Amino acid sequence: MRTRRDFLTTISLAAGGLALAPLAACSGTGSAAAQSASATPASTTSAPTARGAMLMRAIPSTGEQLPVIGAGTSGSYEVPLGSADHDTLQDTIRVFFEGGGRLFDTSPNYSNADEVLGALLDTGDWRERCFLATKIAEDSREAMEAQWAESKRRLRTDRVELLQVHNLRAWEIALPYARELKAQGATKYIGLTHFVERGHADLERIMRAEKPDFIQVNYSVNAPEAARSVLPAAQELGVAVLVNRAFDDGKLFAEVQGRALPGWAAELGIGSWAQMFLKFAISHPAVTAVIPATGKPDRQADNLQAGHGELLSRAQQDELVAMFA
Ligand SMILES: NC(=O)c1ccc[n+]([C@@H]2O[C@H](COP(=O)([O-])OP(=O)(O)OC[C@H]3O[C@@H](n4cnc5c(N)ncnc54)[C@H](OP(=O)(O)O)[C@@H]3O)[C@@H](O)[C@H]2O)c1
Repeated sequence: MRTRRDFLTTISLAAGGLALAPLAACSGTGSAAAQSASATPASTTSAPTARGAMLMRAIPSTGEQLPVIGAGTSGSYEVPLGSADHDTLQDTIRVFFEGGGRLFDTSPNYSNADEVLGALLDTGDWRERCFLATKIAEDSREAMEAQWAESKRRLRTDRVELLQVHNLRAWEIALPYARELKAQGATKYIGLTHFVERGHADLERIMRAEKPDFIQVNYSVNAPEAARSVLPAAQELGVAVLVNRAFDDGKLFAEVQGRALPGWAAELGIGSWAQMFLKFAISHPAVTAVIPATGKPDRQADNLQAGHGELLSRAQQDELVAMFA
């Protein structure tokens, strides 16, 4: 029999430095999405936004706080510069920052997404507000250096907050290079990413050996395997976790078309399936932030809403996993 354990999460008004109070208990018994019974939660606080407080989680290596809802650029930001879709992204990014968002994840592998994001961040004071995460995705040191120079040009910046090795590609070369850039102040944090279950074992092995600041991994109601290994390991090691593909690249929306939310959703203030899928991701105590991609302002607002209110109980997480198995 597995141990039952309640995870007490604390909330505070981060900007105002107001008093601490209990926020949510995330507890339950074992399941396919089993979480480490010995794990303790990432510290969770909240920062004021127009709609109230967005939940925040601490990056274990520094204690820096990040809003739990971030954004990705894959697909959704790969649009022609100056197009109507690009104009729509101006609204999307404004909704994101004004709604309390801060973390953007991108990659030189996403065609022109870096160029689009760089131009958008340049239109306001967004770059200063943004926790910008990008990646190294090359095979040789020479190619990585050229790619990093190009990333800075496209993103219109001389530094990023997080530099990740994309899908562990040539990680024996990329990780030392990322560490050098960190020592030079070109990135504040370094990380490793993967996006499918077959990469989890390598991701965990390399994380244990190298102890990066961050990992990024896929985790969703229909792909909860990370909760068996990678997420508890990250928690044990004090490594921050970004969750990608929380909507399974959008495929989950086709599955829930015409399907009602569970009866308990309203009690938690969950008003859409997007919010439900994102709440599932951030309810694992190892998770620092989830990075859903959207190019649409109304969907961006919908996604941000998941960063508010109570987390899912362990029983609710199990119910969702069973529903999409
Ligand atoms: N190996 C890696 O490092 C790796 C791999 C995969 C992903 N990632 C990162 O993780 C991010 C997220 O993953 P992802 O983009 O693959 O997939 P995802 O976030 O699971 O799904 C994105 C899809 O969901 C749609 N969507 C977003 N919000 C919605 C909403 N509220 N309602 C309905 N549909 C919505 C988007 O379409 P619209 O744009 O039309 O709204 C898009 O088609 C990526 O952008 C990337 O930054 C990294």
